Amino acid sequence: MLKVGIDSISFYTSHYSYDLKDLARVRAVDPDKYSIGIGQQTMAVPPPGEDIVTMAANAAERATRHMDLNSIELLLFATESGIDQSKAAGVYVHELLGLGERCRVVELKQACYAGTASLQLGLAFLHQNPDKKVLVIASDVARYGLGVPAEPTQGCGAVAMVLSVNPRIMAFDSPYGVVTESVMDFWRPNYLDVGLVDGKSSTRLYLNLLEKCWLQYSALSHRQFKDHDYFCYHVPLARLAEKGHAHLSKINGESSDEKKISSSLEYSRQIGNSYTASLYVSLISLLDHASEDLTDKRVGFYSYGSGCVAEYFSGVVQPGYQKMLETEFHQRMLADRESLTYSQYENFFSYELPKDGSRAELPYYNTGNFRLTRMEDHKRMYEKTIKKKIFANDEKSDFRHVRVLAPGKLILSGEHAVVYGKPAVAMAINRYVVATAKPEMAEHISFNLADLSYEDSLSLSTLTRLKNRLKDKYQCFVHGDFKIREVLQKPVELAQFALSIFMEMVNIKLTQGINIRVESDIPIGCGMGSSAATVLSIMHAIAHHFEMDVSPEMFFRLGLEAEKLQHGFSTGLDLRASLHGGCIYIKEGQIQQREAPTMPMYLINTGTPQSSTGDCVTAVACHFKETNIGDDFESVTNAMDAALQNQKTHDILHAMRANHDLLVKIGVVPTKVQQFIHEIQKRNGAAKICGAGSVSGDQGGIVLVMAESELDLTDLCQRYQYSMLPIRCEPRGVHVV
Ligand code: CAA
Repeated sequence: MLKVGIDSISFYTSHYSYDLKDLARVRAVDPDKYSIGIGQQTMAVPPPGEDIVTMAANAAERATRHMDLNSIELLLFATESGIDQSKAAGVYVHELLGLGERCRVVELKQACYAGTASLQLGLAFLHQNPDKKVLVIASDVARYGLGVPAEPTQGCGAVAMVLSVNPRIMAFDSPYGVVTESVMDFWRPNYLDVGLVDGKSSTRLYLNLLEKCWLQYSALSHRQFKDHDYFCYHVPLARLAEKGHAHLSKINGESSDEKKISSSLEYSRQIGNSYTASLYVSLISLLDHASEDLTDKRVGFYSYGSGCVAEYFSGVVQPGYQKMLETEFHQRMLADRESLTYSQYENFFSYELPKDGSRAELPYYNTGNFRLTRMEDHKRMYEKTIKKKIFANDEKSDFRHVRVLAPGKLILSGEHAVVYGKPAVAMAINRYVVATAKPEMAEHISFNLADLSYEDSLSLSTLTRLKNRLKDKYQCFVHGDFKIREVLQKPVELAQFALSIFMEMVNIKLTQGINIRVESDIPIGCGMGSSAATVLSIMHAIAHHFEMDVSPEMFFRLGLEAEKLQHGFSTGLDLRASLHGGCIYIKEGQIQQREAPTMPMYLINTGTPQSSTGDCVTAVACHFKETNIGDDFESVTNAMDAALQNQKTHDILHAMRANHDLLVKIGVVPTKVQQFIHEIQKRNGAAKICGAGSVSGDQGGIVLVMAESELDLTDLCQRYQYSMLPIRCEPRGVHVV
């Protein structure tokens, strides 16, 4: 007979907890009722962005970290807080973890029992496929409601266990006792997001079924109570597991020995009910806390799922199991949790995802290495968030000195039209914002904007308050109460906001201060993407300072959140160009990388436009709304794109001239600038304004000149009193130097 069982196991729970002493105060209940009568201390509360999938992925990432993922050919996902009636939550986890294509994934349901059903089915699979592995995940959010009797037993968590032949943690024996009875002690109709419970009858059933399953198991296995060294129970509330153990001891004529279950209850007391995961949280708790070597000890397991199905079975701890434990990870995770206030708990509890298919970006909270980022068209979008590298000594990471360059950009084709969903081609150029992050002794965050001779130093809490104030002001702008220029009052606030939302997302805990220095040779307010480059350079510098891998999508999304404070609205074009470098073709948020032009290019500064970007956008709106000029811009941009893909210099120049003509047509090229561009064309070059241009005055901001071969523009620029600079495309996006 093959030996089958648990080869690795780990659990994950929310980073946020709520103290039941505080709940007792708010509900005007004696705190002893919760701590003694129920037996619970804190409950784990999932923040927005955390659900059964993210918790499962976090637990499973840990449990599979030393494993060939392709050996997993079955993923059984147990839950009673499912997120979809059709698609198994495990399929999302399969993608997030990068499991092999040849892996069956299915979701199982029978209240809290489904974790055990998955375990048993997984073990049976191994008998037929001894060279494979099975990933069992049990993940749940226990929700009953605010102010109801079951409230203090809420919680959340996920357990992931890899099952294999010759397991290194626990081997299970086959005799089991199982009982099914149709009862209504706990259930959740499809239209509710909280469980309904007949509390008293559920506790009675828990105990009755324990007795029935045990008698069956004991008869089939010929094992007595005393043949078991430790006992693990499903823990809806720790007090019930204690009662269960007392009951089992009593029917076996033994006195209840608290030491045989106390270690198994430690984690559950701190996280609350985790439904399907709960029994296996008990096992992990026993393994992590037992004061003696558990090798060869027999552990009895009682699984109960309302409705109801219950099972008794047992297993034996394997020699060398200690090497496979994740004790430090679990204990650190719990020790590092953030304690919520009552109103934060209520806000988390009451947070709702849209049910009408509308798009919603989720706020950032610490959800481990995975998060639910948004809802769109009724779909859940997940992503891997960040990965902090594991250091021999974590402290060392605080002493890094990092310098990051984020390039600015020019639009080769399509400005203005891009606001109306038309495509654009942008190019990163060799003008940069340079952000330097270095440690500082005081626990402050200092900003040094070198070009503006501006310095400021804030505590983390002041920075957080500033961030919240800026978010509120942006909402005032959205509701029409503020102009966008009233949102950021000082240039440094953009840098401070970017840093603050980034630190919040990656959940950085400062152990010392940081100094951020920002320098730039990108002209401000000229459509060259200086805000985007500033925001990205700071976020990258911090990510590298703390040695964190952050996905480009995450940088983009956070960058967008910061950039809109500057511009009110952002197409994301500047961020994309600075993030990816080179040339990009962008349409409706989708980007494609293009080869950069290699011909000579010059940047001409015709002076700060008299009108703002907003003035220009308003003035040209009628052209886009009342005529087909948007389509003409699209054709020109597509011609530029084709020319770039084929590297046809002549066609690039042709498209640029056509683009200039369209910009003249919508009235954003001042007459003097038109004359200058005409002179360039006479010299066989092509030129166009890059940016919004101007609807009044002589100055049009930045003009890009391109030519087949080098042009001497000194005399021309002197005559027009314009400054000139040769530039080239920067193929690298934001990067460390
Ligand atoms: N000091 C010490 N103890 C106190 C106390 C005080 N000041 N005040 C009350 N207590 C004790 C009570 O005496 C009682 O102890 P006993 O159970 O030993 O009698 C205990 O605290 C609970 O008090 P109540 O019976 O008044 O509790 P309640 O009505 O408020 O709710 C509950 C308790 C029914 C368990 C409720 O929390 C609940 O409905 N929970 C959800 C259902 C549940 O978990 N059922 C478990 C079996 S079902 C299952 O296992 C599946 C699953 O996961 C859901």
